[in-house]
Amino acid sequence: MKTSTSISVACATLACAQHATTFVNPAVPTGQPLPGNYSGGLRPQVHYSPPQGFMNDPNGMFVDANGTYHLYYQYNPTGLGAGNQHWGHATSNDLYHWENQQIALFPPEESVFVFSGSAVVDVNNTSGFFPDQTNGVVAFFTLARYYPNAAGPQTQNIAYSLDGGYTFELYDGNPVIDSTSTHFRDPKVIWYEDHWVAVIAYSQEFAVGIFTSPDLKKDWTFASNFSYHGLLGTQYECPNLVKLPVRDSEGAVTGEAYVMTVSVQPGAPLGGSITEYFPGDFNGTHFIPYDSATRLTDFAKDNYAAQYFYGVPDGEDAISIGWASNWQYTQQVPTGNLEGWRSAMTAPRANYLQKAARIGQTMINKLIDPAPVLAERLEATTFGNSSLTLDFSHIASNALYIEANVTNLNTTLITSDSTLNLTFSSPSSGEALRSGFFFGGDNPFWIDRGQVRGFDNIFFTDKFSAANIPHTDENNGLASWRMQALFDRSICEWFADGGVQAATVLFYPTQPLTVVSLASRALPPGATVSVAVWALKSAWAGYADEQGTVVGNVSAVVAGGGAGGAGARRDMIYEGSFTA
Ligand code: FRU
Repeated sequence: MKTSTSISVACATLACAQHATTFVNPAVPTGQPLPGNYSGGLRPQVHYSPPQGFMNDPNGMFVDANGTYHLYYQYNPTGLGAGNQHWGHATSNDLYHWENQQIALFPPEESVFVFSGSAVVDVNNTSGFFPDQTNGVVAFFTLARYYPNAAGPQTQNIAYSLDGGYTFELYDGNPVIDSTSTHFRDPKVIWYEDHWVAVIAYSQEFAVGIFTSPDLKKDWTFASNFSYHGLLGTQYECPNLVKLPVRDSEGAVTGEAYVMTVSVQPGAPLGGSITEYFPGDFNGTHFIPYDSATRLTDFAKDNYAAQYFYGVPDGEDAISIGWASNWQYTQQVPTGNLEGWRSAMTAPRANYLQKAARIGQTMINKLIDPAPVLAERLEATTFGNSSLTLDFSHIASNALYIEANVTNLNTTLITSDSTLNLTFSSPSSGEALRSGFFFGGDNPFWIDRGQVRGFDNIFFTDKFSAANIPHTDENNGLASWRMQALFDRSICEWFADGGVQAATVLFYPTQPLTVVSLASRALPPGATVSVAVWALKSAWAGYADEQGTVVGNVSAVVAGGGAGGAGARRDMIYEGSFTA
């Protein structure tokens, strides 16, 4: 039997004494996080994944005044596919170790899902919710209503948090942007000089609506549309408008620009879901792209709906995290049946604009330094044309970080055989995850997951490539190329030339991949390959109890919190059944 629970917040002042109904499905725990087991052979060790159940888009990402990063996410806590959408929540101080928190947002009624959206810190109390504090958080999200045989309208709504983003109260004046459209969703809110700006997808009209407001509440005014840009697929979703520093080739900041990102789904050229971006100018109401090119954030197919943290200081690189999956197969991947969870987030990336060889202004996806999870360095060596093979079966995390820097490349002596290949393999099953770079020809940087055999799905296509032109040093005319790889059990991310090109790739081996090899061939005389390989330490192992269960932050007792916030106790650990 399902019951609807009305939850109210005890407020110190009249300004926030509103009451709104929240529906809590009895199968969904409140007041403490769901427990999870992070030891499964496919479970990433340095990436965020939910304790159990199904996760999709990152939501509400903000960094608070203490430097704590808040990551919310589309969450079905009671199943292994999309449905029953809530906002799950995790926090981190270093973007690699995440602590699971209680579910942050519940729907107002049973037939309503809490879809994607964003969060801001309302330091100046523009909303009026926070007369006595500077850490009030407002979440802005779509509520999607469902009727028995049809989808109902999608409207934009807010909830506010008095405890820094751990528990929320739905605003009693919702919706703040009403609509009759069944495809109007995923608001991302930013602050622009003297007002709030929201970008929201009119998904099937291929438009991103830009709205402005002084107070985050009722005064939302339509300002403009950004329509029919780039790849359309069959829907626009999860837009972002983000201010980025522009850096010169030496890395010095020379200005700033805005980037509009649009996630397209289904119907991306590689199949399913993909994210495109447009660098340009924003004047507070209108976004004008610099050119008519379509640029992609990733050249494989497992990076969707990335969001950019609100609250990163002006002038600094933006920080983003994406959903490392694809709607074409996310509800079928084997982690569900084998381990009771589906989907991970990408590793965190720093983002700025920089001119890349020939293609010009590019949003760089630079891997945020994985130092917090680096363990021992397994290898550091330099060679010309040679190879290196390492057995890392003794590394408990089954996770590695690899850097390869190729320098002193005399481009006039490069041939079509000049390559650097990186392969992860399993000696017992013969499976292999392969990648490599051709220094000649069209400079393809390629990845192949086709020799990993734990998941057979027609849409789980296996080969990806991008043209990645090596960077030529203007002083000596010699070229260089750099690659980083973050390998983590069932997800690997590659970054070429510090993030000029990036690829996020899921793979599901039947046996762990435990051997890594790097091999260079036919590089011109004088070229050097410097390689370093680090073992990674599990970010989750430290949180596990003796049974291997990661319980999360069950001790946070939040005075006057929202759904289940007050009175959460350690002895209230969720013991309900979980439907796989
Ligand atoms: C994108 C998306 C969003 C929606 C959410 C629902 O992956 O379809 O448009 O808000 O997922 O979970």
